[in-house]
Amino acid sequence: MALTFTTPSNPSYLAEDAIAKIQENPGFGVYFSDHMALIDWTEESGWMNARIVDHAPISMDPAGAVFHYAQEVFEGLKAYHRADGSIWLFRPERNAERFWNSCARLSLPQLPKDDFVEAVRQLVAVDVCWVPTGEEQSLYIRPFAIATESFLGVRPSKAVTFCIITSPVGSYFAGGVAPVDIWVESHHSRVANGGTGAAKCGGNYAASLLAESIAYEHGCNQVMFVDNAEHKWVEELGGMNFVVVTKDNKLVTPELNGNILPGITRDSLLTLAPELGLTVEERPVSLAEVYQGIDDGTVTELFACGTAAVITPIGSLTDESGRHEVNVPVDGGYSIQLRNRLLDIQYGRIADTHGWTQRVC
Ligand code: PLP
Ligand code: COI
Repeated sequence: MALTFTTPSNPSYLAEDAIAKIQENPGFGVYFSDHMALIDWTEESGWMNARIVDHAPISMDPAGAVFHYAQEVFEGLKAYHRADGSIWLFRPERNAERFWNSCARLSLPQLPKDDFVEAVRQLVAVDVCWVPTGEEQSLYIRPFAIATESFLGVRPSKAVTFCIITSPVGSYFAGGVAPVDIWVESHHSRVANGGTGAAKCGGNYAASLLAESIAYEHGCNQVMFVDNAEHKWVEELGGMNFVVVTKDNKLVTPELNGNILPGITRDSLLTLAPELGLTVEERPVSLAEVYQGIDDGTVTELFACGTAAVITPIGSLTDESGRHEVNVPVDGGYSIQLRNRLLDIQYGRIADTHGWTQRVC
């Protein structure tokens, strides 16, 4: 049976002018809306107590399992404000499905997908005044589940909290759509064969941070990871999937091999690319092939894609052996065409022929 949410009968909000000020320059993940969704789970009672409450600290015993063994998963999606004032989500059922799969991998109880989507809808509807209206702005939605049982033995927690917070956002990268420089990391792996790469769990991101710091030390904006066994095959960036466009109009991206997050943006682009005349290839992509292609001009574009980054062109790849500079097309090429097409669907500027968007209010 679907959960019923209690919502505040008289919700309180930060003053309108304070919200407006934040929305002038929201950055990414810095400010948070007034409310959050919570659902509790225990082994005895299952999912219960679904509620929208004020955004506030969660009080937990320091023995809570998540603090010690990182039993946690999360999601990321956005709510979009359209020109007519309506608010829409993009493929939230895909986030619900990935969350379901991530929970299975992390031995967390699986929240029914309809309850996941309903929790998102309820929260966005309560905090609708937080969905920013500026160009390319949106309300970033962060669902997550944490193991809350106070117990230091290593086994799946018998108590879990599901929570959703939201944050008004602009571009993930400070430079907007300006091409980013990527450090290719081949020493510190993020995930390994048989590990948690296909799950969206906090541990994967913790494992990426050292390499990301190394990327910054080299003047790069993000890190790209290669496979853990041979250090030869391209996988993905710290928080985005990786895509190559070739001179002969192919869109090539590493296949989902269990180590790569199945990105919803990636999946959407695989559908949109043929509509722009690109042939799609999902297959193993070697680093040598990408470097060679950049250097001889057969690779014409590289980009990162994800909910936070949308599509961000990549200007260069660097590792210890040197730098490979992409000759980014002056008009932005397919990266910008795909980006515009995706954003046009999300913001309702063109018809959504794939049934990807759903209205909240
Ligand atoms: N890869 C990683 C590691 C990510 O964190 C993300 C972001 O969620 C993605 C890829 C892109 O996934 P999506 O397009 O579903 O946001
Ligand atoms: C997202 O795009 O939703 C992510 O989780 C990536 C993260 C770098 C913010």
